Amino acid sequence: MMNTKVRDLLNQQINKELYSAYLYLDFSNYFEEQGLDGFANWYMIQAQEERDHAMLFYRFLQNNNEKVTLEAIAKPDKELSGPMAVLKAGLAHEEYVTSLINDIYAAAYEVKDFRTMQFLDWFVKEQGEEETNANDLISKMELFGSDPKSLYMLNSELGARVYSAPSLTL
Ligand code: FEO
Repeated sequence: MMNTKVRDLLNQQINKELYSAYLYLDFSNYFEEQGLDGFANWYMIQAQEERDHAMLFYRFLQNNNEKVTLEAIAKPDKELSGPMAVLKAGLAHEEYVTSLINDIYAAAYEVKDFRTMQFLDWFVKEQGEEETNANDLISKMELFGSDPKSLYMLNSELGARVYSAPSLTL
């Protein structure tokens, strides 16, 4: 039997990851409306990845014979007041998700739940990559965002991103 606090946090994380997917779909929609289809593509793929993350938590609980409870997904609540504001909201959100993963890890560590810790190792690494990607987007936007030609090229670069399934399978 899994510790109830660890189980509840893992269950909650399904919802947080689905919210992340919903948030990034909102970002994608925003960029589509702005005519920046490459940015829209980038966030659409990001949304797909977040759904994958949710499914990993879902499967992990099921594989450990723990009950999954699906809760309501909140409305995306970030203010989309311009491309840079969206990118910064993305970074802040990833930093928040990192803190959630760390909290679950700490709870698992406390009760010596090594199986959950091993499962979460992938997410610890993934969050490092997520934050790096979000930071890179901001840096590129700072460098190139104000020049239309450069923005066009950046948009094309982001439009080339393709979906790949997570390297972790359960
Ligand atoms: Fe599932 Fe972007 O963290």
